[in-house]
Amino acid sequence: NLPPVIAIDGPSGSGKGTIARLLADRLNYALLDSGALYRLTALAALEQGADLTDEATLTEIAANLDIRFELRAGEVAAILAGRDVSHDIRMERVSMAASKVAAMPGVRAALLQRQRDFRQSPGLVADGRDMGTTVFPDAPVKVFLTASAEERARRREAQLREKGVSVSLRDLLEDIRARDARDMNRETSPLAPAEDAVELDSTGVGIDEVLHSVLQLVRERI
Ligand code: C5P
Repeated sequence: NLPPVIAIDGPSGSGKGTIARLLADRLNYALLDSGALYRLTALAALEQGADLTDEATLTEIAANLDIRFELRAGEVAAILAGRDVSHDIRMERVSMAASKVAAMPGVRAALLQRQRDFRQSPGLVADGRDMGTTVFPDAPVKVFLTASAEERARRREAQLREKGVSVSLRDLLEDIRARDARDMNRETSPLAPAEDAVELDSTGVGIDEVLHSVLQLVRERI
């Protein structure tokens, strides 16, 4: 009997990262931020000056990633070859590269077992695009969290503004649309709700309310 998985999938900016973290805290479950694995692959590739269209090279980079996640000052830090790259992997340039790298079947295959290895007692909250469809198809709780592209761009802008970064809302919206299109239209594990996923739209809905709905599902199914 494997420990239960709560799969939270959806597009970037839907709030799934926040929800996943709050759930893991509340339930004392482990947390998998699968997007970070694609971001780390992209960052490693960019730093090596690899050709981002060369699937064989990128697959090799993904298979050999030297990474770990560590709790530092209450935050999960991503460590690449001993270096804290938590900040670097969130850069817009890396986001774009990650979504390109993630479209490659070889890269996805190379990261599959690594993701499954996060499953542990008493349970796992897994955040991504294909947690409920490909990585943990047997997850007892599957949520597909969405929000309108405009709302997601606004949230991202607010996040960046807090960090003192100013970007145009129009550019962000364009980036979000480009990433959505790539995630939804790729052949391998496209972004789509699992058949048995519960879809929640967080447009205009507070985090507390979304969390409440998901906890309700957890009580029913785990
Ligand atoms: O969730 P996050 O924005 O950090 O993910 C970065 C990129 O990794 C996404 O744009 C998406 O293309 C890819 N990704 C994926 N499958 C996952 C998680 C992320 O393809 N399970």
